[in-house]
Amino acid sequence: MPPRILITGATGTVGGALLRALATAHKEGKITAVAGARSAAKRERLAALGVEVVHLDYEDAASVRAAVAGAKRLFLATGYSVDMLVHSKTVLDAARDAGVEHVVHLGASGSDEQPYAHLIWHAYVERYIEALGFGYTHLQPKTYMRNVLAVIRPGSTVLRQFFGDARVAWIDPDDIAAVAEAALMDPAAHHQATYRLAVEALAMKDVAATVAAVTGIPFTYEARDPADLLPILLKSGMEPVYATNLARAIGAATRGEIPGLAEVNDTVERVTGRAGTRWVDFAARHRERFLVAAS
Ligand SMILES: NC(=O)c1ccc[n+]([C@@H]2O[C@H](COP(=O)([O-])OP(=O)(O)OC[C@H]3O[C@@H](n4cnc5c(N)ncnc54)[C@H](OP(=O)(O)O)[C@@H]3O)[C@@H](O)[C@H]2O)c1
Repeated sequence: MPPRILITGATGTVGGALLRALATAHKEGKITAVAGARSAAKRERLAALGVEVVHLDYEDAASVRAAVAGAKRLFLATGYSVDMLVHSKTVLDAARDAGVEHVVHLGASGSDEQPYAHLIWHAYVERYIEALGFGYTHLQPKTYMRNVLAVIRPGSTVLRQFFGDARVAWIDPDDIAAVAEAALMDPAAHHQATYRLAVEALAMKDVAATVAAVTGIPFTYEARDPADLLPILLKSGMEPVYATNLARAIGAATRGEIPGLAEVNDTVERVTGRAGTRWVDFAARHRERFLVAAS
């Protein structure tokens, strides 16, 4: 029987990319991919990929237990909230009871070193995965390239961000998903592995220059005052403890106070066998999004 893999966060950025990647292996009968989602409408959309879907709400332990039943492998992704601690424990306890053997966890780079709660919580989740005795692959990505797509504004060629002049290490979430896919398809090859994920270090002004070169439109960068970030995050509805720590971390990054902020590695290439996505590739792949913004 093909191993059953439960994908949590399947409606999210990384989980969604992972599900699309695993759909092929599912159709070929190599695995059974099961996408967990709390919304019926979103489950319907995920089912169109041809994978199995299941109701899964982290706030409803019974739904989590039902979703994880029979799974041998698990992808664990949680959202941008302190609730990630309770959500992770709920899923991991159910996974242990269900006999899950391998967990691929979406964490964050810096979780072992930096004094910011939202990062340290990921370290606690990793230690809990280890304490429960799972085989594991810990993913520790740096900054998502997609964060830049989220701030493009209609009618504007100015990319506004909070990193000042700092060089930042970037990763395409599709590359994170590709590494997760490799670990879920062949857990033995990625057993008890911790993967830092960052492909290219660029300052935001160079990101804007790359987007300009790829689109032929003079995109520029405007550095925003990090002091403005917290009110923006709170207004967007982000949970306050998470928002406060994220804003502190980005403020420190802007002031050059985060060691290793620009550190990159070859993990994507080593694990997937293909080169990781650089900004020039990412801008080309999302060229339409930038062109629409500029129009
Ligand atoms: N952005 C970055 O630059 C960056 C860098 C490093 C690490 N990270 C880490 O990446 C992780 C987030 O990844 P992402 O951007 O892919 O996340 P995302 O797009 O925000 O997705 C979060 C997922 O969690 C699901 N979820 C939330 N609450 C749920 C609940 N009660 N029951 C079931 N599902 C629930 C969401 O489902 P719904 O669709 O139902 O809401 C969604 O599928 C965070 O842990 C963060 O620390 C981010």
